[in-house]
Amino acid sequence: MNDDLHGCYHLLRGTSLDILTENMMQNLKQFFELQLLKTTNWNTAYLLTFCSSVIFEVTFTTIYGQSLAGNRRKFITELRDDFLKFDDKFPYLISDIPIELLGNVKSIRKKLVKLLTSEHLAKTQGLSEVVQMRQDILEKYYTLEDFEIGAHHLGFLWASVTNTIPTMFWAMYYLLQHPEAMAVLRDEIDHLLQSTGQKKGSGFPIHLTREQLDSLVYLESTVLEVLRLCSFSSIIRFVQEDLTLHSETQDYCLRKGDLVAIFPPAIHYDPEVFEAPEEFRFDRFVEDGKKKTAFFKNGKKLKYYLLPFGFGASKCPGRFLAIFEVKQLLVILLTYFDLEIIDDKPMEANYSRLLFGIQHPASDVLFRYKVKS
Ligand code: HEM
Ligand SMILES: *[C@@H]1O[C@H](CO)[C@@H](O)[C@H](O)[C@H]1NC(C)=O
Repeated sequence: MNDDLHGCYHLLRGTSLDILTENMMQNLKQFFELQLLKTTNWNTAYLLTFCSSVIFEVTFTTIYGQSLAGNRRKFITELRDDFLKFDDKFPYLISDIPIELLGNVKSIRKKLVKLLTSEHLAKTQGLSEVVQMRQDILEKYYTLEDFEIGAHHLGFLWASVTNTIPTMFWAMYYLLQHPEAMAVLRDEIDHLLQSTGQKKGSGFPIHLTREQLDSLVYLESTVLEVLRLCSFSSIIRFVQEDLTLHSETQDYCLRKGDLVAIFPPAIHYDPEVFEAPEEFRFDRFVEDGKKKTAFFKNGKKLKYYLLPFGFGASKCPGRFLAIFEVKQLLVILLTYFDLEIIDDKPMEANYSRLLFGIQHPASDVLFRYKVKS
């Protein structure tokens, strides 16, 4: 079954990805038109809360479609709040602590699973190809219980938002702290809009293809820099036979039965690879106006200098969609809004997710946004 489910991941690439990104843009448009573009005053919000809200709603709707139930807003906000409560307990859920000791997380999980069962999915419209194929495999081929199917979908939903939320948070946080970087990005986006004949005033949202977004080298570099600073996802492998692991810089002798963890910060924070690694440098991945890919250690050019998405067989299949989502959302926010940080304080990370994914901030931070006049 695991192999069959992996067989669905091609639906997160190629033409299927084009469909997903197109739908994602429509969903972003809806989210902004409904909620954010209505007032012309300054709005104050907590940044992590803001990012959680946009990313959850837009990702869920893109992957699982729209609920046909009466009150759509109520449905999605309740689902989001429950999901975030569940996700908050994630580090404890994967520990040995019995779920019964984790407050009401068991009943929340049950509720979430139920909302993702075949019975409920039948009441939504616009299921993505990847989820539809997973559903077919689970339902028709393996004839799982409906509750088990829902649990599989919750796993997928979790993977699709849990890391994108903090990535978006840190991207915004660093840009708010670095107005000079924000200005360069705005300039780069403006140029592209002009060259594609789109004026800011004309219609929302501006429409950019994946290729156009990828041509924005400073935007790309900013996203990569955020991932460099915040990725703690370790690649963990069980050694099945004695072997020598050749890495790019050193060889390691491993014994059968060992567990190996590759910890991305070991590279991401190596001052030999990245000068002043603690600093946010939005243009770190740009060289001569192009994407920079040459990073060195011991005089050798590295093939693997950024590992936010894992490696090999379990490498994140959603990475293209994730990067597209973060870029697209940044383009909208930078193009349509004035943005300012209010709590200008240094942020600590919450290390309870060390080894798992993108680190979360230890506290939330206030910012404000206003539709540009
Ligand atoms: C910035 C955002 C994201 C980051 C940093 C990220 C990171 C990762 C990492 C490190 C893994 C590998 C875990 C391991 O080795 O066991 C992974 C797996 C996975 N990711 Fe992502 N991810 C992101 C966004 C997404 C999105 C948007 C989706 C779905 C649309 C997604 C779907 C998945 C799935 C299904 C797996 C499991 C793959 C398997 O079955 O082996 N991810 N992700
Ligand atoms: C740190 O993360 C854990 C797990 O997600 C959470 O329960 C806890 O409230 C967080 N701590 C802070 C200070 O945000």
